[in-house]
Amino acid sequence: MAVRDILKMGDTRLLRVAQPVQAFGTSQITDLLNDLIDTMEAANGAGLAAPQIGVDLQVVVFGSDAINPRYPDAPLVPFTVLCNPVITPVRDEEEDGWEGCLSVPGMRGVVPRYKCIRYQGFDEQGRSIDRTVEGFHARVVQHECDHLIGKLYPMRVRDFAKFGFTEVLFPGMEVGEDD
Ligand code: NI
Repeated sequence: MAVRDILKMGDTRLLRVAQPVQAFGTSQITDLLNDLIDTMEAANGAGLAAPQIGVDLQVVVFGSDAINPRYPDAPLVPFTVLCNPVITPVRDEEEDGWEGCLSVPGMRGVVPRYKCIRYQGFDEQGRSIDRTVEGFHARVVQHECDHLIGKLYPMRVRDFAKFGFTEVLFPGMEVGEDD
């Protein structure tokens, strides 16, 4: 469909609690998904949430079926469309990891996330999704779903000594690896 502009931190539309999807399998959802996927792929992102393109709905896409050039060492996460998600930590255990965000370009920060979560929700057709995952997969889901409650990863940073510009933190990283 179309590559859309990605809203950047400071835009109040990123701070809303998104509305649940009420009807699945509609042309509205199909159009939204096509835009999310096109936009995520154009930006080489690991995930994208509807609020990041200004759409106030609980829809995220994440994962990749191929190695992402930006995260060549990241384990594969199955490409997933997730609507109306509910996340439940399986254990209290947290894990620190570096994150970036297409809405916070050029920066990285260390964010604590639950190591193991169960997530439930629906795909674009309303079919139920129920997975228990850990590590990078769990991190991506928590990051994307945070966008649906108005949270950007810098709001989760605890140690601001580990938050900064990618080019300064990781001088070897290629220009253009922007989130
Ligand atoms: Ni993000």
